[in-house]
Amino acid sequence: MGKLKAIILAAGEGTRMKSTISKVIHPMLGKPMINYAADAYKNGGCDEIVIVAGDNMEALKLAVPDALFAHQAERRGTGHAVICAKEFIGDDDTVFVAYGDGPLIRAETVRDIIACHKDSNAAATIVSCVFDNPFGYGRIIRKNNVFDRIVEHKDASEDERLIQEINTGMACYNGKQLKKALAQLKCDNAQNEYYLPDVSLILKNEGEVVNIYVGSDPMDFYGINDRVQLAEAANIIKMRVNNSLMLSGVSIWDPANTYISPDAKVGRGTIILPGTIIEGKSIIGEECEIGPNTTIKNSSIGNNCAVINSILESAIVHNKVKIGPFAYLRPDSVIMDGAKIGDFVEVKNAVIGKNSKASHLAYIGDADVGENVNFGCGAITVNYNGKNKGRTIIKDNAFIGSNSNLVAPVTIEKGGYIGAGSTVTKNVPENCLTVARARQENKEGRAPKWDE
Ligand code: UD1
Ligand code: CA
Repeated sequence: MGKLKAIILAAGEGTRMKSTISKVIHPMLGKPMINYAADAYKNGGCDEIVIVAGDNMEALKLAVPDALFAHQAERRGTGHAVICAKEFIGDDDTVFVAYGDGPLIRAETVRDIIACHKDSNAAATIVSCVFDNPFGYGRIIRKNNVFDRIVEHKDASEDERLIQEINTGMACYNGKQLKKALAQLKCDNAQNEYYLPDVSLILKNEGEVVNIYVGSDPMDFYGINDRVQLAEAANIIKMRVNNSLMLSGVSIWDPANTYISPDAKVGRGTIILPGTIIEGKSIIGEECEIGPNTTIKNSSIGNNCAVINSILESAIVHNKVKIGPFAYLRPDSVIMDGAKIGDFVEVKNAVIGKNSKASHLAYIGDADVGENVNFGCGAITVNYNGKNKGRTIIKDNAFIGSNSNLVAPVTIEKGGYIGAGSTVTKNVPENCLTVARARQENKEGRAPKWDE
């Protein structure tokens, strides 16, 4: 039994993007374009994903680490690109060829095309669609209603250019016949390229059956060539994600202004306010209020939390936590149940224990903070001496007075109480009151009298 393999062509230069990075790794809702295609073929039932890459090979390997790769050193057409991947094509394999710049294809459409191919006795099933504006696309020429050939726009006659049924570029082939036809490809056409669609003509001429699957939704086959189309496609993905979340019980005040990655999860009863961006594999629990103007990247948030006007990156937030407004949780921040991280508080690589509070204007970096700790306004951990980072340990029920500096490495034991304005450089024992600041002097009658 052969395998079902997707070969995704992505060696093109994408000149119209006018970009220093490869077209297919441009992000859409924080996720590279190529990953949308790769996910659709994987979720549509393909056992293996083979990507044909050019100079963009390294970037593509980073974006899709579990794919297999073929290299096309010189861009000589879509047929040539598939030839570059021929070592991956087994005689018994079914091969689904597609393009990396088509991120809107849905897994259910892929599954449907594959089923249609397998149910037929065809050597190839090409995928067409009827487009209102077929300009630029290859056209499907039928004879007696069955496949005759595909003609590229540049090679088409005026009459042929009136045809609205276009070649989407997707097709399913039986491995053996595909390889046989690839060996016979020629480049005698307007662009002097090896055209993949000619494979179907070669197969037909050899008496093989070439089937046509007519796609019902043109959106599935939307190709991206420039940044206007990139934004249009990202908008379509955004609405698909938002609609599916709303139908599952998430409220979104303004779907047009809410950007959620398809890989993120949001629980029922959660309300998302405008200007919210949720990227990567973020997970948000139930009954939360997120936003407005909040960015959450690769983070997880429990149930019943509020995150207002804040930025979270690779942070873990447990339940009943209040974040913001204007808080910044940097990587490896862990906020336990019932804690509060208020306005202008930055947390980095630190654990904030249950019910602890940093209500305003604080920096907590490289720290382990216990339960019920109060971290006063303007207090900071001094975690960097210019060369090394040190850790601050604050145990349960400690009270850190306003405007304190905790110079790491330093430990405040349970119930330690730091007077406001202290600069703490030595460990503080349990239940100890520590005052580390210059004593106040009152000089009677010495205030300046400016009006004399
Ligand atoms: C192709 C089809 C056309 C179809 C259209 C659908 C051919 C000859 N024509 O035209 O019938 O209507 O797509 O969008 O196939 N690529 C490589 N290596 C190459 C050339 C292309 O990897 O040497 C990749 C590109 O990165 C791109 C894809 O193949 O992802 C399509 O190539 P492109 O040049 O855009 O083909 P079209 O002219 O759009
Ligand atoms: Ca194209």
